[in-house]
Amino acid sequence: MGDRAVDIVYNTPDSMKIRIRDAETKDAARIVEFLKEITTESEFLITCPEEVPSVKEEEEFIKRMKRSLYSLFIIALDNEKVVGSLTFIGNSRKKVRHTGEFGISVLKEYRRKGIATRMIECMMEWAKKKGIEKIHLKVIEDNLAAISLYRKLGFEFEGRQEKAIKLGDGVYKDVLLMGIWLGGGERC
Ligand SMILES: CC(C)(COP(=O)(O)OP(=O)(O)OC[C@H]1O[C@@H](n2cnc3c(N)ncnc32)[C@H](O)[C@@H]1OP(=O)(O)O)[C@@H](O)C(=O)NCCC(=O)NCCS
Repeated sequence: MGDRAVDIVYNTPDSMKIRIRDAETKDAARIVEFLKEITTESEFLITCPEEVPSVKEEEEFIKRMKRSLYSLFIIALDNEKVVGSLTFIGNSRKKVRHTGEFGISVLKEYRRKGIATRMIECMMEWAKKKGIEKIHLKVIEDNLAAISLYRKLGFEFEGRQEKAIKLGDGVYKDVLLMGIWLGGGERC
């Protein structure tokens, strides 16, 4: 594994070999291609297609993520093509260092193969090793696929932010807050 936090090969039920590993600066261009595709095909992401970063900006983001002790950026690859991404943003301040929040997406063609599940499991294994005890996420209220995935993995509902999302047509959506306690002992 070298100095990578995550580096595994996941065999999907239909026999694809998907590599899940840390994003490297050399991946910036293929990650940008992935972001262009995923923001076009999913209405549940905060980023709009026109807000996808440039390759240079993506390189800088990868560098920052690699420097941060408490953050993780992993990608899923089908050969050289990026088909999934997970970013976990941790905290360096002491009182919240045990927490972090993540976001995940998988290209439409690659869904329902267990890729997101395996990526989240990798994140949780990494988080436990880092002493991270609590993981948060935000999901748009009608994103039933994602909610069902998170529930299956043990995430619980913790709150609702009303009208936190405004779509182009002026329709507002609530955001649900979910979390999972990974730490030992009683949940605080
Ligand atoms: C949500 C998302 C990441 C799931 O990725 P995935 O790789 O397809 O997920 P998995 O194959 O690991 O699915 C695991 C479980 O989640 C649930 N699930 C996933 N997609 C589902 C769907 N479309 N409908 C209902 N349940 C679904 C199922 O319980 C599934 O298990 P099963 O296939 O054995 O029934 C993917 O649909 C996606 O990228 N969506 C667009 C972006 C997005 O919404 N990201 C999350 C923002 S909060």
